[in-house]
Amino acid sequence: MRPFLFVEPATRSELTCIGEIPVAGRIAGHTLTLQKLADMKLGVIGAGPVGLVTAGAFSSLGHQVLCVEKDPVRLKQLTNGSIPLYEPGLQELVQQGVDKGSLNFTNDMGEVLRFANVVFVCVGTPEGEEGAADLSQVESVAVDVARNLPGYRLLIEKSTVPIGTHRHIARTISRHVGRDAEFDVACIPEFLREGNAVHDFFNPDRIIIGVGSDRSRALIEDLYSSFDCEKVWTDPGTAELVKHASNAFLALKISYSNLLADMSEATGANLGALLDGVGGDSRIGRSFLNPGVGYGGSCLPKDVRAFVHFSTQAGVDSSMLAEAQKINERRPVQIVDKVRDALWLLNDKPVTVWGLSFKPETDDVRNAPSLDVVRQLLEAGAKVTCHDPVAISRFREAFDEHPDLRYEADMYEAAQDSHALILLTEWSQYKDADLAKVRSSMTIPLIIDGRRVFDPEMVDGLGFEYEAFGSGKPPKRHGA
Ligand code: UDX
Repeated sequence: MRPFLFVEPATRSELTCIGEIPVAGRIAGHTLTLQKLADMKLGVIGAGPVGLVTAGAFSSLGHQVLCVEKDPVRLKQLTNGSIPLYEPGLQELVQQGVDKGSLNFTNDMGEVLRFANVVFVCVGTPEGEEGAADLSQVESVAVDVARNLPGYRLLIEKSTVPIGTHRHIARTISRHVGRDAEFDVACIPEFLREGNAVHDFFNPDRIIIGVGSDRSRALIEDLYSSFDCEKVWTDPGTAELVKHASNAFLALKISYSNLLADMSEATGANLGALLDGVGGDSRIGRSFLNPGVGYGGSCLPKDVRAFVHFSTQAGVDSSMLAEAQKINERRPVQIVDKVRDALWLLNDKPVTVWGLSFKPETDDVRNAPSLDVVRQLLEAGAKVTCHDPVAISRFREAFDEHPDLRYEADMYEAAQDSHALILLTEWSQYKDADLAKVRSSMTIPLIIDGRRVFDPEMVDGLGFEYEAFGSGKPPKRHGA
């Protein structure tokens, strides 16, 4: 435990207290931590990917965490230490917390507010009408908090919300409890990538902290004291906007890489060298400059649409983001066009899809390009066999049954007798596949590589026809 730091002399009015316990003082204009709130009691509202990582991670850092889950089936599962989603490392983290007794679950919001000083709000903010974020879960949390507020509590927004949401939360609570209600609303947006969420939590590039009071600042300074990355302190509204602005930029960058892939295809410029050349400029950077079937998932598509929506409401022209969206929405169409170009008519032709999740290391298929690609293949009359290491059951939940659609648990069986192998997600087992084995079982040895994972020369050497976004093919393929 870090040593206590006492500020002398300190008058009562210079101290920030949680109940009767002084936790911080101000001296010469600086806020100083007086006492470490080791083993802080934390609440987490919402046991989705962000909530569970937050709960598991803080319990592993020595805090007591109580997490709300309303769904009785999921609650039972979590209480036993098992999690309802695939996220590397998360199962172990949650199990550890449950076994140690430092992580518990409940369906009772009142219990969480009586237990915790600091409560993270991690409920979903799905897409609503016209791209606006649907904030009904956030509002109902605010009402629940107001009904159960036993004294000062700090609420920290982790959900991705439009700028100004903290004010609506505060107003809703004050309206129900009265002006004297003791609480703060802060915003610490999360930048966890699915599939890397546990790693990202413990290794953030930076932490954005939006606070509006010394009291909340003191608590957060203490809670995040073990993180030694850059901390950007700001107001809650700015912190809310940082999240949308970051995700929108990532989407722009991916769409730009897709534009470059189209340019390379149209001109014969070598795409790999083009991307390395552009991304090698440290001002631009090579990451998130990987073209393919486009960005999916629960965040980028939704956050870009929400950004366009609220910037339009604010009178700001965000049409550059609308263009990035358009480029992204065309990617599944373009890949199906490649299949058509190669096979001509698709009617009754067996084709294979490798990869259904929107990215590797997750079973999430929300806004996954696979949904659009499989739908278009079926509409064109193809007989589609799909494989994914973990996402088949989630895909089946999201996609209607179809007589020409089947799922195969073995990736090699999935490619048997097929006329085209379409790769949509860059799972490592596909990158490392025994392609000679695949080649010998396919009726027409054609690979349509939606993520550019295979070496064109290598697959050419094995006797495959190979199509991918952009021109990375050796010159001989262009008839030179
Ligand atoms: C994103 C943000 O990265 C994260 O900071 C935020 O908190 C949540 O949203 P996530 O949705 O998990 O994370 O996935 P991400 O790794 O950003 O990938 C999003 C999509 O973009 C995936 O479909 C991925 O395949 C695609 N992508 C990513 C590309 O097509 N090209 C790239 O270069 C990078």
